[in-house]
Amino acid sequence: AAAAEYQAENATIVDGVVESNHTGYTGSGFVNYNNAVGSYVEFTINAAAAGSSTLTLRYANGTTTNRPMDISVNGAVVSAGLAFGGTGAWTNWADAKVNVTLKAGANVVRATATTANGGPNLDRITE
Ligand code: GCU
Ligand code: CA
Ligand code: CA
Repeated sequence: AAAAEYQAENATIVDGVVESNHTGYTGSGFVNYNNAVGSYVEFTINAAAAGSSTLTLRYANGTTTNRPMDISVNGAVVSAGLAFGGTGAWTNWADAKVNVTLKAGANVVRATATTANGGPNLDRITE
């Protein structure tokens, strides 16, 4: 099936803000995570059928310090401390991929910052 796109700026945001001051994002902007442990963006991702799937998280990190995040699906962490390394500039966007198992229908996918630096800037997830 064609990749489905879930924009971070349309997701549920806890401890972050939608911004558009760094070019190269898709949709209408990106989420700037507040620089804090526990800030998160939560998506509802629809799967036509149960099974394994690769989620691609598009992000920018203009620092040289990794901004790891825990990725959870339906409340269970499936990737602890997934790396979101530096991309060279806040206007350079890269993909982080994670393999997950989804159920048919709606799945809650959350990306939670695990360090005091917060998450990277997050543009979208494609599934
Ligand atoms: C800068 C940048 C933000 C980014 C922030 C950070 O302020 O403009 O987009 O989120 O750094 O370090 O998290
Ligand atoms: Ca930030
Ligand atoms: Ca976006």
